[in-house]
Amino acid sequence: MRRPVSITPPTGKLGVLTPGMGAVSTTLMAGVELVRRGESLPVGSLTQMGTIRLGKRTEGRIPKIKDFVRVAELSDLVFGGWDVFPDSAAQAAAKAGVLDAKDLAKAEKFLKNIRPMKAAFDQNYVKNLSGSNIKKAKTKFDLAEQLREDIRDFKKKNKLDRVVMLWCGSTEVFQKPEDIHKDLASFEKAMKTNHPSIAPSQLYAYAAISEGVPYANGAPNLSVDFPALEEYARARNVPIAGKDFKTGQTLMKTILAPGFKARMLGLSGWFSTNILGNRDGEVLEDPGSFKTKEESKLGALEYILQPRVYPDLYGKFTHKVRINYYPPRGDNKEGWDNIDIFGWLGYPMQIKVDFLCRDSILAAPIALDLILFLDLAKRAGMRGIQEWLSFYFKSPMCAPEVYPEHDLFIQLMKLKNTLRWMMGEEMITHLGAEYYD
Ligand SMILES: NC(=O)c1ccc[n+]([C@@H]2O[C@H](COP(=O)([O-])OP(=O)(O)OC[C@H]3O[C@@H](n4cnc5c(N)ncnc54)[C@H](O)[C@@H]3O)[C@@H](O)[C@H]2O)c1
Repeated sequence: MRRPVSITPPTGKLGVLTPGMGAVSTTLMAGVELVRRGESLPVGSLTQMGTIRLGKRTEGRIPKIKDFVRVAELSDLVFGGWDVFPDSAAQAAAKAGVLDAKDLAKAEKFLKNIRPMKAAFDQNYVKNLSGSNIKKAKTKFDLAEQLREDIRDFKKKNKLDRVVMLWCGSTEVFQKPEDIHKDLASFEKAMKTNHPSIAPSQLYAYAAISEGVPYANGAPNLSVDFPALEEYARARNVPIAGKDFKTGQTLMKTILAPGFKARMLGLSGWFSTNILGNRDGEVLEDPGSFKTKEESKLGALEYILQPRVYPDLYGKFTHKVRINYYPPRGDNKEGWDNIDIFGWLGYPMQIKVDFLCRDSILAAPIALDLILFLDLAKRAGMRGIQEWLSFYFKSPMCAPEVYPEHDLFIQLMKLKNTLRWMMGEEMITHLGAEYYD
């Protein structure tokens, strides 16, 4: 066996801070509470329900992941957050309409006590949102300082050992990294001069890293994925990850597309459309926010199918993604996919997928896993981009010299091999020649 990585045990309480206390965040909080009380199972969470095979298939060593790597116990999680609306988590959960009244009632006492701190907000970045629970400061740097103070106060008040931050805020408008994002000095200077290209989510990410708090971005906007903060995270030994939770339609894409490619079936087109009626859908009505989401959703197929490597099969496919805000559906999104594929001798075939999904029900266990794995990474001394967490994201962050890995099955293998590596176990290659020698 190799030597395991040295990992500090998860003693004491782990604080979970979410900028944005909307549908995803409150579904996560309520769900964790119901699971800890034994009222429900953590379905969808790899850390809680998943197992990992160790050694040869003949050894029968298949522990649960949470026992193998010792992630924090759910009973040790303490929740807090920020939002532009002053609603408690109980009120926000009721408005989000994800959970039914029976489940909400069970979690109400717990959720009522989670009140959002004042948000660092700028309506230029989320046009279709205006709230009153907002911080005031002269500069963006001062806002970041206030966020840092919030983190320290939260830690002190709740007697926490460690904290993790997960952006569950609205999708901000589309933005590409600019000069001010290229290094830390330029970024800090730009915060002090109120540069318009610094989005609120970037202030939260900066504050988290400054406080040694791991940070992940559940939305598609530019938040921690630019050189200045990537470099800062490495310098401060902070793990970071992103971006955009891989939940409904993109999850399906990254399950189906690797299958077509494995069988060398061609693709001539993939048309995806969604109807959803939650606040996320309302925010995405704004073309700026939609552009951010669209970019994030479009990437997966190109990377999985590698048109340049397989020009005859994937060189000319059309890929369209549409999102329609349709209030009657609330959080229960419907995602339609029409997939035009072709087979032997170029004969065309069609596949239709109609996924009547529940967005936040799919996102909450991802959020939980990210929190627990980022905390594990921090305790294991891992820093900077955590590419092994690509499994959870629509647009996985990765080193500049490599392309992102989107194939769900490769992502899962990478995640599990990283856990084996941490614990000094052999990697699993699936070669298996030894069984036939
Ligand atoms: N639900 C999913 O399955 C899913 C999947 C992938 C990504 N996402 C992304 O996750 C994010 C959260 O989704 P949701 O469904 O919970 O949305 P939501 O609209 O219910 O909640 C977002 C909350 O963030 C708050 N907010 C916005 N800007 C803020 C700021 N600067 N500081 C603090 N709070 C702020 C809003 O007031 C709102 O309450 C969205 O960006 C969404 O695109 C969600």
